[in-house]
Amino acid sequence: MKKFTFLFLSLILFINCKKAPVPPTGLVTEKAMVVSAREEASKIGVEIMKKGGNAFDAMVATEMALVVVYPFAGNLGGGGFMVYRKADGDVGSLDYREKAPLAGHKDMYLDSLGNVIPGKSTIGATAVGVPGTVAGIIEVHKKFGSLPLEEIFKPVIALAEQGVPVTANQERRLASQREKFIEVNGDSTKFATAFKEGDIIKYPALANTMRKIAEHGRDGFYKGETAQKLAAFIQKNGGYITEEDLEKYQAVWRQPIIFKYKDLRIISMSPPSSGGVTINQIFKMIEPYNVADFGHNSPKTIQLFTEAARRAYADRNYYLGDPDFVNIPLDVLLSNTYLENRMENFSFDKATKSSEVERGNVQIVESMETTHYSIVDAEGNAVSVTTTLNGAYGSKLYSDELGFFLNNEMDDFSAKAGVPNMFGLIGAEANSIAAEKRMLSSMTPTIVEKNGKLWLVVGTPGGSTIITAVAQTILNTYEFDMSMQEAVNAPRFHHQWLPDMVIFEPEGFPETLKDEMKSKGYIINEERTPIIGKVDAIKVLPNGKLEGGADKRGDDAAVGF
Ligand code: GLY
Repeated sequence: MKKFTFLFLSLILFINCKKAPVPPTGLVTEKAMVVSAREEASKIGVEIMKKGGNAFDAMVATEMALVVVYPFAGNLGGGGFMVYRKADGDVGSLDYREKAPLAGHKDMYLDSLGNVIPGKSTIGATAVGVPGTVAGIIEVHKKFGSLPLEEIFKPVIALAEQGVPVTANQERRLASQREKFIEVNGDSTKFATAFKEGDIIKYPALANTMRKIAEHGRDGFYKGETAQKLAAFIQKNGGYITEEDLEKYQAVWRQPIIFKYKDLRIISMSPPSSGGVTINQIFKMIEPYNVADFGHNSPKTIQLFTEAARRAYADRNYYLGDPDFVNIPLDVLLSNTYLENRMENFSFDKATKSSEVERGNVQIVESMETTHYSIVDAEGNAVSVTTTLNGAYGSKLYSDELGFFLNNEMDDFSAKAGVPNMFGLIGAEANSIAAEKRMLSSMTPTIVEKNGKLWLVVGTPGGSTIITAVAQTILNTYEFDMSMQEAVNAPRFHHQWLPDMVIFEPEGFPETLKDEMKSKGYIINEERTPIIGKVDAIKVLPNGKLEGGADKRGDDAAVGF
């Protein structure tokens, strides 16, 4: 009897130990939080919530603050995606992705021999897609905002006028692109200056442009003086965007991709982002395995994840594109039967060869030049946003008169089947260019529910590595019991079908592990990507408090109250 009691108590203790909440290691706050690429932007989002604004007001404020403090990716001249979950459980998503201009067509980046013209879709005015960000924030504000637009813009405009100190990371990034800024804009442009750490950069022209948006909403950008100046500026530099393109731009509310993984419900972005579909495929392919028992970043976990990613990425570019233009067989791609079949030839004994995994000849190379922020407000509304100019400072085309950079998002289309874009991405017909079409993205703003309640808000920049970085952060938290900050900090790896290699962050993976992987036929690469993603996430703790995970890989910061 004594023995039975002992065993019973041990079992209870074991169960309790397993269930004991993981102690947080990131910033913990009582009610509300913003985690973004710069502390100044997180602070402005929080300030808006302290004034009584909700997470959607804070989204508008944070997105605009990032234009000022993080011109590398924060933008007026780009686009993005938002996934939300309201406190009452209602979920949805907004697509404010850029579009091809009306003059856009399939062969617009090809010469008379049908060859891709180098640089035409990557640098300068010809690379610019119709910007969606202003339409996005105004749409969010119209549907869910609670504070007047002018009040939300006030601290952002003040910041643009006062100026922002250059960080060490920013000095390095600006210096690396300075030649290109001059090549595209001439040597009298603002960013021809060699800014140093600690310099204060003021943005009076941007403040002026923002004032018009604060006063007139979307018409303050897509119509009138700003639209005239913007279209004329792009055309003067050889680009295609007209006032009509700007006036016609609309953000679109879309049904997010929603799926279950064990007792989690994961809500992520639908096409024209590939993020939700690909993450859904990866999770469903690994769900039958007990990865918690395999261990974090153990050979078995890495192998399983790699093989699931290999198969999901093989589908990604062949099937996905703008759903308003192409039929995407989502019901098949996301069905259990299809995904079970995809993993049928997987074995822990050896690597599958990507050449043996169907679909099309797709290569994707990662880019870091996007940004993500996560917000939770005091009512429990949650917002997950990823926004981008595509490349670093987009096309490098900078309107000194209006105060912002323009995207080079046209390069996310496939300019020609079989020819890689600036990130090595070889696209298929589904992502070919057409007038007013949206280009395929990898952005994966995601919200996770556990037991029916808000649990995680998560996302990252990182081009094609966005999807694997978001998936690994969720697994770190759920399967490997990490705190939010630990889950964000943990070393990451990546596989995207082609090129057929597992990319590891240089720190954090032992040689023995890599040797074991090599012995099974995996090609290991540690040079390609020094960091994989910069994840900014929030976790709701069992006591209802919030834990931030601000990625140590950047200047990212969690702020809250
Ligand atoms: N331009 C990066 C992405 O949309 O995935």
